[in-house]
Amino acid sequence: MDLSNNYDKGMRLKRYSVYFLTLFVLFVIWKLSVIEDGVDKLQLLREALELHKEKLQLSQQQLLLLEHLESNRGSNNNDHANHPVIYAVTPTYARLVQKAELTRISQTLMLVPNVHWIVIEDSEKKTDLVRNLISESKLVATHLNAKTPPFEQLKDKDPRWKRHRGVEQRNMALKWLRENFQPKRGKGIVYFMDDDNTYSIKVFKEIEKVKKVGVWPVGLVGGLNAEAPIIDPETGKVTGYKSGWKPNRPFAIDMAGFAISLDLILEKQEAQFSYMMEKGLQESEFLSYFTTKEELEPLADNCTKVYVWHTRTEKPTITGIVPGLEV
Ligand SMILES: *[C@@H]1O[C@H](CO)[C@@H](O)[C@H](O)[C@H]1NC(C)=O
Repeated sequence: MDLSNNYDKGMRLKRYSVYFLTLFVLFVIWKLSVIEDGVDKLQLLREALELHKEKLQLSQQQLLLLEHLESNRGSNNNDHANHPVIYAVTPTYARLVQKAELTRISQTLMLVPNVHWIVIEDSEKKTDLVRNLISESKLVATHLNAKTPPFEQLKDKDPRWKRHRGVEQRNMALKWLRENFQPKRGKGIVYFMDDDNTYSIKVFKEIEKVKKVGVWPVGLVGGLNAEAPIIDPETGKVTGYKSGWKPNRPFAIDMAGFAISLDLILEKQEAQFSYMMEKGLQESEFLSYFTTKEELEPLADNCTKVYVWHTRTEKPTITGIVPGLEV
């Protein structure tokens, strides 16, 4: 009697422990799936946040643009309204000096009325560094990204001029302009403004005068103190170029030495930069879509003044990283 009772108790205990164990295992499985779900949700949340960040940036840009337009409308007799919009196209890529370069460029642009800065990162994704820099500048700006395909990426020891740079990024800017503007809707001028050059605000005064394609000298380039178009004093037209490299190119002009009217950019939809163009001939081939040597508009006092310099920031050698500091 007692024995069978004990046996029953034992069986019951065993059964309970089996129930309990099963419940426990089920609980663990459920908990694990909840955690996994949570991780998935977190991932989703993160993506949503990224998206919101983009949208916020966009609306901030739109707000600035609206403010800008509003202030122009409100002040018709102010000469502000008569400035054409200058679209400054700046390709950029991540490196130690990137923030320093972009700071210099953006603070130059803060002194220029009616500028619309188009920044194109050579990256898979837009970075917070560039995003924050643009937003702090309060410039009317558009932030894009376009990754250079690996086969064209600059190798460290290649001389800079031997490889194409900024092809993907400049084309992205052209695409953006062509998608967002229609010809003959207000005056605009496009200027390719690299992030490593030094620009006097005077060059933007010259850019404002551009009707189709304007040109001017560029300092410290091609092994010369400056490269410059040669002007015929009789006709005031461009007859050739003083250039340290292939002066007989159809347009021996550095990227910083010309600007093109937005209408022309929009009319010649097919014009873009290409890896097929011979190295060093990017500017020349690109310009031939739009104009002839005879049609060029010489600016900067008939190309006698230098308002832009091909400066180059030395690549810094660093021996350590101080954590927590964004440089
Ligand atoms: C440029 O040269 C042309 C022709 O020589 C002359 O008529 C014009 O006044 C000059 N412009 C400037 C700004 O010096």
